Amino acid sequence: MQSGQQSSHRVVAIDGPAASGKSSVTRELARRLGFAYLNSGAIYRAITWHILQKGIDVGESDRVAHAVESAQITCCLRDNELCIFIDNVDPGDYLRDDRVNESVSRVSSIPRVREIVVEKMREHAQGRDLVIEGRDIGSVVFPDTAYKFYVDASPEVRLRRRAAQGQRDEITMRDHADSSRPVSPLVVAKDACIIDTSHLTIEQVVNEIIGRLEQNGLLPSAA
Ligand code: DC
Repeated sequence: MQSGQQSSHRVVAIDGPAASGKSSVTRELARRLGFAYLNSGAIYRAITWHILQKGIDVGESDRVAHAVESAQITCCLRDNELCIFIDNVDPGDYLRDDRVNESVSRVSSIPRVREIVVEKMREHAQGRDLVIEGRDIGSVVFPDTAYKFYVDASPEVRLRRRAAQGQRDEITMRDHADSSRPVSPLVVAKDACIIDTSHLTIEQVVNEIIGRLEQNGLLPSAA
């Protein structure tokens, strides 16, 4: 499928940096709209876990790309939640491990890895309405969707949020890597609506997005 081509179903794109509140907002928004939820970061994390399990050095791009090409990656929905299986293994419990946090930006910067993941996301969007979170959803994966949001928060707030989750996650380093990579960097899509979540609750952010979706003509089925 060419970039920009998509199914007749609706896609709401939520992009933003690490710890901007994307996941909580996206999940709640999907629930309110009655749409399925897809976390693209979780796919990159699952792949990273798989590569680490295989003992492959994440700096060896060709080996990583080859291993990802050879892996069977399956995305499915369980209770409207995304489950990712790699070679029939569900790495769901390990996606936030320190070693995955440390390596995921490196793995996700490999162009062939991105091609494979983008293809998976587009396949997954066939036949269902979807809210997707990530870094390049509005800019690259679904550039034609009319429903694009970029959620952000101040660096201090984002660092505090990660610390409160008890995670060791070098978000400043990841942000830099994710924003400066040559392929599909984290950018604000030109037609995205920017929302600063620093001083907003999840509910306030979701209400704001739903208000804008109503203005844009997407009528929520169960909001
Ligand atoms: O959203 P997250 O922090 O779980 O994402 C983990 C990493 O995956 C992030 O540092 C960069 C990568 N990623 C990406 O490159 N493109 C996406 N659409 C989503 C995530």
